[in-house]
Amino acid sequence: MVKNKIKVVCVAAARPNFMKIAPLLDEFKKHKEFKPILVHTGQHYDYNMSGSFFKELNIQKPNYNLGINAGLHGEQTGRTMIEFEKVCLKEKPQLVIVVGDVNATIACALVASKLHIPVAHIESGLRSRDMKMPEEINRILTDHISDYLFVTCEDGKKNLINEGINKKKIFFVGDIMVDTLKKQLPKIKNKKYKSKVLKQFDLASKQYALLTLHRPSNVDNKKRLKTLLETFNIIQKKIKIIYPIHPRTKKRIKEFGFEKYLKQMKNFITIPPLGYLDMICFLNNAKFLLTDSGGLQEESTTLKIPCLTLRHNTERPVTVDVGTNIIVGANKNKIIKETNKILCGKGKIGKQPKYWNGSTAKKIIKILNQKLTK
Ligand code: UD1
Repeated sequence: MVKNKIKVVCVAAARPNFMKIAPLLDEFKKHKEFKPILVHTGQHYDYNMSGSFFKELNIQKPNYNLGINAGLHGEQTGRTMIEFEKVCLKEKPQLVIVVGDVNATIACALVASKLHIPVAHIESGLRSRDMKMPEEINRILTDHISDYLFVTCEDGKKNLINEGINKKKIFFVGDIMVDTLKKQLPKIKNKKYKSKVLKQFDLASKQYALLTLHRPSNVDNKKRLKTLLETFNIIQKKIKIIYPIHPRTKKRIKEFGFEKYLKQMKNFITIPPLGYLDMICFLNNAKFLLTDSGGLQEESTTLKIPCLTLRHNTERPVTVDVGTNIIVGANKNKIIKETNKILCGKGKIGKQPKYWNGSTAKKIIKILNQKLTK
């Protein structure tokens, strides 16, 4: 009976959101007391940044697509708020769920909060302590206006308590991305699939490094991007590097005139952004990962692939303390030193952080059910 169902609006906007929303929507299917409504804000819109994730992860067609794509931060956030408010006023949900730290996360949480609609934030409590990162601003603000804060690790909980957030609102449930990863792993490990994926670029398992690079702090700064490219130039003489290139970085490389430099790096292979399954397959077979992504730090820890994080900090310290991650910044010597260690077979192995076991969505829905049907 649709009338008595708990209406929940789930928000997805950008590539790192889709693997977090998929397990929730799957779990909702087992709980007929909920009526999930999916809103895609449109921040990522290319097939390989968005559509392919819906297809591979079997995510339902969004009930609303707000069509808010590129734009400056204020513009992107503001336009998302204007359109999302219309959805909330029409649907009158009992809950809005936001995930991660992208601009749509804060935009939609803010709209819901002002309309007195409770907000659940999944992947709450992460802190890089770097207010220059747009994501850090989004995380802090979203957490402070959320009613249910689902954290991935113990330090997330500590961060929230230190900021004065009521303990009763915080729930330690583990990492929801691991739910997706565990579910999709058999497909990736399938021999036929694996060899098809690797063959496309003439790669052999453990004979290449995987690179992702898109943070504004790395790619919008000409000097820093140049240092990183020079470092990759040294590494690619020892091991092939495969780089699915983000649209932001592609633009910058062109603007800064680095295309010619890249072309002479024969073992540095740039390819278009990958879909979820191919990306995880490349990661699972890589000797190691070089990245400035947030999610990949967690995925490499889960798959036990050594990870060198090309940033000065991480909001995911558990991947360093427990997992396979090492923070190397844009420091050429440090990156080369850690690369050499990995190539000598001395890469970090790490362990699985607590509750990263594939049952996070289940825990979240159980808690929401208890709270919302009280
Ligand atoms: C956003 C998120 C970041 C996340 C990243 C993953 C914020 C503040 N940042 O950064 O946390 O790690 O997504 O990718 O929300 N573009 C395309 N096609 C697309 C998507 C983007 O060409 O499908 C272009 C945009 O037009 C823009 C650039 O890429 O020029 C950056 O996109 P945007 O979503 O604004 O920020 P990201 O750098 O992707």
